[in-house]
Amino acid sequence: MAPLLDVCNLRIEFATAQGTVTAVRDVSFHIDAGEVLGLVGESGSGKSVSALALLRLLPPQARIRGSIQFRGEELLALSEPAMRHIRGAGISMIFQEPMTALNPVMRVGDQIAEAVLAHSGAEAPSHREADAAQLKLRPFKADGGVSALHKPPSFEQDATDVAQPIGLLEQGEKQIPRGLKPARDDKNEEGGAAHAGAKAPDEREAGTADLKVRPFEDGKSSPAIKITKQDAWRLAVESLRTVSIADADRRARDYPHQLSGGQRQRVMIAMAVVNRPSLLIADEPTTALDVTIQAQVLDLLAELREKFSLAMLFISHDLAVVSLVSRRIGVMYAGNLVEMGSASDVFHHPAHPYTRGLLNSVPTLRTDRGRPLQTIEGTVPSIVALPPGCAFEPRCASRIASCAAALPPLIEVAPGHLARCPVVATEVH
Ligand SMILES: Nc1ncnc2c1ncn2[C@@H]1O[C@H](COP(=O)(O)OP(=O)(O)OP(=O)(O)O)[C@@H](O)[C@H]1O
Ligand code: SF4
Ligand SMILES: [Mg+2]
Repeated sequence: MAPLLDVCNLRIEFATAQGTVTAVRDVSFHIDAGEVLGLVGESGSGKSVSALALLRLLPPQARIRGSIQFRGEELLALSEPAMRHIRGAGISMIFQEPMTALNPVMRVGDQIAEAVLAHSGAEAPSHREADAAQLKLRPFKADGGVSALHKPPSFEQDATDVAQPIGLLEQGEKQIPRGLKPARDDKNEEGGAAHAGAKAPDEREAGTADLKVRPFEDGKSSPAIKITKQDAWRLAVESLRTVSIADADRRARDYPHQLSGGQRQRVMIAMAVVNRPSLLIADEPTTALDVTIQAQVLDLLAELREKFSLAMLFISHDLAVVSLVSRRIGVMYAGNLVEMGSASDVFHHPAHPYTRGLLNSVPTLRTDRGRPLQTIEGTVPSIVALPPGCAFEPRCASRIASCAAALPPLIEVAPGHLARCPVVATEVH
């Protein structure tokens, strides 16, 4: 059976003032339906950039090459409206920083409801439009600062301030039946101000947004469902219950700053699963949390995976956490996938010197407390000047002369166990 996600020879470059930098090169992996693939690697190794590329959320200066197939469909060739449907309803993502990923001036329930409405056929603004809206919305004045950013603008000022400059009002008027109120619509993807100080949708006039589903540009239609704002709000509250937020009805009306770090992460998860995607990308979902909350979030993800048969790309720099949730693990180093195999292969028979170094540097109960912890000598090469050969070569105790000449290929050291090191791979198993 074809995999749910099939990534082949992914290469991601950014045009920068210093020239073109390669953040990811020759990365290939697949994820089957319902499977969890863990991706580990130190900071800057290209984990988030790879994840964002799957959703085509990289900035315009990024150039993506290779192939990303989701359910057999090439995502890099999809139209933007079709891609917007994939985001959330097919693949969704829990972003690395919940506080910056959530809109600070929008109630969390509205943010989740907006994700529902975005997939009911309503035309949500593009991310660039949303960015533009955000720039208009945020008072970047000398006296503005963070408090100004968090201060909800008044309802009267907001919708027109945000929507008019980016043409959303005109767009909204075309889609919403006459006599309704597009200026106060929830469609603005970024428009937190459109909700600040406003009543929750279930308290607003009924039928404010009875949005019909329209075909996508590529001719494919989404299911013929009709979602009202009230339905979207109810689904948002339900989704908060699914992620075990106590008193979900009330908490849905809170702003992100009124929630704890763990609750914000749950809100992000609620938003990610509300449209029942088949693949969830979780980018460091537990890094900012203390260990007890970390365990709760991991349990929650496992529960959701079971309940919704979710496949997952679980990204972390923490080997222990990845080993708890993943059946297979990929190890990244300087934009390269250097090892891929079952969790047992990677932990018990590591085939790449970098993976071995990583495992040796993790203290265990058997670690001699009297000796200093092991580290990997040297530093990761800058992506501005990557060596032509193995990127780990300057730090590798096993290197031979040919290692610096050309990028080593991924070698199958055992069925399903691959390593980008022709020197050490033969010793394994
Ligand atoms: N817009 C950009 N322009 C130029 N370089 C970028 C851009 N975005 C990311 N990069 C570079 O790409 C590389 C990979 O970044 P990425 O965010 O994927 O790292 P990561 O593995 O997720 O690290 P962390 O564990 O710290 O989250 C980094 O060197 C980063 O500086
Ligand atoms: S290819 Fe050579 S330098 Fe790279 S990890 Fe293997 S032995 Fe070390
Ligand atoms: Mg990252």
